[in-house]
Amino acid sequence: MRLVYMAGKGGVGKSVCSAATGLWASEQGKKTLAFSMDPAHSLSDILEADIGDQPTPIAENLYAVEPDLAAEAEKFYAAYRSLFRALFEMFQFEVRPADFGVLPGVGELIFMDRLYDVYMEGDYEVVVIDSAPTALVLPLLKLPEVTTGVVTRLLGMKSRWTGIFNMLEPGFGDSVVKEVRRLRTKAETMRNALIDPEITTISVVMIPEKAAVLESERLIKTVEAHGVTVDSIIVNHVMAPCGCDYCSRRVASQKGYIEEIKTKFANKQIALLPSYGEEVKGAGLAQVARDLYERGQVRI
Ligand SMILES: Nc1ncnc2c1ncn2[C@@H]1O[C@H](COP(=O)(O)OP(=O)(O)O)[C@@H](O)[C@H]1O
Ligand SMILES: [Mg+2]
Repeated sequence: MRLVYMAGKGGVGKSVCSAATGLWASEQGKKTLAFSMDPAHSLSDILEADIGDQPTPIAENLYAVEPDLAAEAEKFYAAYRSLFRALFEMFQFEVRPADFGVLPGVGELIFMDRLYDVYMEGDYEVVVIDSAPTALVLPLLKLPEVTTGVVTRLLGMKSRWTGIFNMLEPGFGDSVVKEVRRLRTKAETMRNALIDPEITTISVVMIPEKAAVLESERLIKTVEAHGVTVDSIIVNHVMAPCGCDYCSRRVASQKGYIEEIKTKFANKQIALLPSYGEEVKGAGLAQVARDLYERGQVRI
């Protein structure tokens, strides 16, 4: 299975690129799933389909899923019930399932749990991950460390806490340890998949503007510091000159930033996508797919 992860700021075109990538892969005969990790799902809108909580057929070989964060949070809560109860017993820290999904980083944790199932079931050849805005790939990468930390601490306190928990209810302490171990295994499996270039391709989508270039550079550095290679950069909204002064100035300024990106990231594949002049959705995605993949601009 290949995972293709689209990263970048909000509004730069991650969802459009994810949908186009899904379409392209499926047209190559690969069974493909477009997986939305952004709680503000937009694949339904872009693919012009009623996408549900379960993989929904979109075209031949193409499926899409938009897991419902609130429902997933409830499931997650139920699956790790002892762990949540233990946190409450230890720190008097109570989270209700309804509030849980909106805590920072928790959305990714919950979606990661769901992605783990897709990964382990191995039903698809390509899974395109339409992520939430920038840097949210980080919780995914940090998760194993965090959970390992919790495990170590829990195990370190094993004699004390596990005993107390088991006194509260027979088997409670042991199921806490079991749940934390399960969470860690999942986090480690997904992290290992993300850092393996044979499995995962990460594309950063950006627009050719000063602040965007700087921000994307930071994003790439941070992600790569976690051992994950960013394979490609998709520069979106590249303007064509129309002859007017305004456009000529913008085209010239974009050109400068594109050169800068090419120089700074000479080791990465760089694809340029034009500004299509209108919202991209439905039938328009075929053009985006060609502009990204037809001439091998980006490889997945
Ligand atoms: N190259 C483009 N030309 C014209 N409109 C685009 C282009 N890329 C994206 N858009 C539009 O910009 C908006 C944001 O794109 P989207 O893919 O949802 O961004 P993100 O997922 O990064 O937040 C959408 O309305 C989309 O149709
Ligand atoms: Mg999006």
